[in-house]
Amino acid sequence: MTDRRPIVAGNWKLHLDHVEAVHLVTELGMRLRTMDVAGVDTVVVPPFTDLRSVSSVIEAEKLDLALGAQHVSEFDQGAYTGEVSAAMLARLGVTIVLVGHSERRTHYHMDDAAVARTAAATLRGGLIPIVCVGESEVERADGSTEEVLARQLGAVLGALDGADPERLCVAYEPIWAIGTGTAATPEDAGSACAHLRKLAEQHLGEGASRLRILYGGSVGADNAAELLLPSDVDGLLVGSASLTAAGFAGVLGAVADCYRSTRRSPRR
Ligand code: PGA
Repeated sequence: MTDRRPIVAGNWKLHLDHVEAVHLVTELGMRLRTMDVAGVDTVVVPPFTDLRSVSSVIEAEKLDLALGAQHVSEFDQGAYTGEVSAAMLARLGVTIVLVGHSERRTHYHMDDAAVARTAAATLRGGLIPIVCVGESEVERADGSTEEVLARQLGAVLGALDGADPERLCVAYEPIWAIGTGTAATPEDAGSACAHLRKLAEQHLGEGASRLRILYGGSVGADNAAELLLPSDVDGLLVGSASLTAAGFAGVLGAVADCYRSTRRSPRR
């Protein structure tokens, strides 16, 4: 039995301008009205330029959706052209930020130390970081998954002294599963997430039992429920399936059903 509430976040990446975003969230809201997904914390994570419009729809339609951002500056303010601060995001109604997604690590050279500084800036701004970790195909093949996860999570938790586990999430996203159509098996996702919780215990003590750990990588309505069965998987980070209202609602419906019909009892 877990009292960790399930969380599902839809990461739109570099897709959908603000007009398309308004359409998607409006349609998503209509679909969710006919579904019982109240037990699931649902987050949409659009590009920066969509945030204001999406937040207006959420407010006007009174949707039970949280607003997330895909990245944030590690700095609070100053001469950092092109950056967006946590305080600026908070002013727009953002409550959650993806930190250290593998695409940021790979394409923008974010190393573990930068991920840790960004997670710290997120918390300073009063926002919840979803810290993304995960091994590459090569690291998986040579058996170093656990070592990679220990390095990546250790760098962040080591820098966030005394972090509140309820103001923090971790997403296990094996790089080989992202955008490939090949998700991890529930067993592999479960054992990686269990390993992450053990690692978290070293920094958070028994608070690690309150930390929510998500799985991400080729999640859709068809595999969402099975990926949530392992007891250490508390949610899902969804990429391409979140780009349509039907796709994302399908995932949310599967998650809500799964939590209603298994031993889990989400707290409200
Ligand atoms: P995907 O992306 O669902 O398209 O594999 C997941 C992610 O990158 O968060």
